[in-house]
Amino acid sequence: MPVPGSRMLLLLVLALGGAAAAADFVGPDSCKGCHPEAYDAWMQSKHARAENSLSEQQRKDGRCLSCHSPDQGSQATASVTCETCHGGGQYYSPEYVMKDSELARLVGLVDPSEKQCRSCHDASSPSLRPFDFKESLKAIDHWSAERARRSGRTDASPHTTSTAPAPASAKK
Ligand code: HEC
Ligand code: HEC
Ligand code: HEC
Ligand code: HEC
Repeated sequence: MPVPGSRMLLLLVLALGGAAAAADFVGPDSCKGCHPEAYDAWMQSKHARAENSLSEQQRKDGRCLSCHSPDQGSQATASVTCETCHGGGQYYSPEYVMKDSELARLVGLVDPSEKQCRSCHDASSPSLRPFDFKESLKAIDHWSAERARRSGRTDASPHTTSTAPAPASAKK
């Protein structure tokens, strides 16, 4: 249900305040209430604990933090969190904004891209294998469960879910 009044007001506030304000983080616990499946899946991932791989001393080293906990200084949010990838949620996380996908993107919601992954998963990361975007996406899946729930909520259209396992192609 769009709320045109609030929509206008929000855009006006942002126009006056400057786009930089949209970078403000609310923290992963704020997303959890509305995205429990995504939150649980993320909590199982290495991203949620990326800071823990660093020693006490390395946690003060900006070189390590730039990938393992990039928003620690500016947003007081440790490790690689929802907002590291999806953008600061202050303006898009209210429910009426979230339900308006166009507005949400106007006020800071980011669709994480391969390029964004590669800003950390590059040649200087310690992985032995080169970064495979498609495989890595599967490994951080925190959307399938939510999409399945969402499509079950309304009349599911046949192309909204793809829960069938991909054909086994171990080597490619
Ligand atoms: C008040 C509840 C609420 C909060 C808090 C919330 N969301 Fe949402 N979010 C929604 C709803 C509702 C949708 C629309 C999809 C749906 O109907 O299930 C949505 C959609 C999304 C989408 C898909 C958008 C699209 O158009 O494709 C992403 C990504 C997302 N939220 C991420 C986040 C992140 C990250 C946070 C925390 C910073 C967050 N959300 C906080 C309720 C919320
Ligand atoms: C360019 C981004 C980047 C920088 C800078 C970086 N790391 Fe990492 N680090 C990664 C990525 C990505 C992984 C996961 C590699 C994989 O498995 O693909 C990783 C993995 C690790 C692991 C292994 C964790 C495990 O569970 O096995 C350790 C330990 C680690 N990093 C420590 C450090 C330290 C210490 C520094 C600073 C000297 C540092 N990293 C700097 C990106 C980075
Ligand atoms: C490492 C980056 C990364 C992190 C961290 C991350 N996400 Fe995502 N998220 C993505 C990507 C990439 C997609 C889109 C996957 C696709 O469409 O194939 C996505 C998809 C989603 C979707 C589904 C959107 C839709 O259109 O159905 C939601 C909801 C979401 N994320 C919420 C969250 C929440 C909440 C957190 C934290 C608890 C989080 N994400 C953490 C990268 C990330
Ligand atoms: C801000 C930096 C950053 C971004 C952006 C990022 N990652 Fe990561 N990622 C890391 C770090 C750091 C680790 C290692 C965490 C650890 O073990 O300490 C990691 C670990 C992983 C792992 C686990 C690797 C393993 O060895 O098990 C996968 C899979 C992964 N990332 C996929 C992605 C995908 C897909 C994206 C883009 C949608 C992405 N990452 C974006 C920093 C990042």
